[in-house]
Amino acid sequence: SLQQKLNNEPKVGLILGSGLGDLAEEIENPVKTKYEDIPHFPVSTVEGHAGQLVAGSLEGQEVIAMQGRFHYYEGYSMQDVTFPVRVMKELGVEKLIVTNACGGMNPSFQPGDLMIIEDHINMTGDNPLMGPNDEELGPRFPDMSTAYSKELRDICENAAESIGFSMQKGVYVGISGPTFMSAAELKMLRKLGGDTVGMSTVPEVIVARHAGIEVLGISCITDMAVGEEIEGVSHDEVIETATKAKPRFIQLVKQTLSSLA
Ligand code: ADE
Repeated sequence: SLQQKLNNEPKVGLILGSGLGDLAEEIENPVKTKYEDIPHFPVSTVEGHAGQLVAGSLEGQEVIAMQGRFHYYEGYSMQDVTFPVRVMKELGVEKLIVTNACGGMNPSFQPGDLMIIEDHINMTGDNPLMGPNDEELGPRFPDMSTAYSKELRDICENAAESIGFSMQKGVYVGISGPTFMSAAELKMLRKLGGDTVGMSTVPEVIVARHAGIEVLGISCITDMAVGEEIEGVSHDEVIETATKAKPRFIQLVKQTLSSLA
């Protein structure tokens, strides 16, 4: 089994968003398992998108990282998108660090800022727990009132402070994508209390909480969606800003991991 193959007992799961997959390369004594070798694991049919789980140690923590993520907008079901979290749970993961790139809606944010997710709004129009009544994997109607662990948020904030980073904090709105928001949609999401908007994270967090895993969510703001005149967003801009912010983002996740000890 996968459990027997790993040379560690991972306690921390890492789901690495836009560009951060490189962090998985820094895992020591890595045991890599291709997605296609894990029963029921979703597999990308797009060339060059083959993914793997990487287990080992990072900053003194036993971790397991997803290298290659599944998104709802790619046509995967919510169950596929979140299956890796179920696998992590099976392997003993207790804490999950989820990262993403997102658009900033709070006018005090700037591209390149890093944000601790305090809460989310699920605007995907779907839910990964949809299905027959079955309590085997967790409660039928799980509590989401504090989806993002206060303890982990504080640890991350202190870790950031210790390396001289100031963090934004706020509410992440998860949309299905793949389209960016229309001007009217953005106006609505801001009115609803969203600080950022992105196309990932919410499904995985819902399943993690369902499974009793503590969650830390960290976003990189890659573009701004504020003001009366909404500037268009391009995917190139998102990738460019995410790439620029990557060293800081990686440093933050590593510092947070070492603070978990
Ligand atoms: N991901 C990065 N930027 C985004 C935006 N503006 N809207 C939705 N998802 C995003």
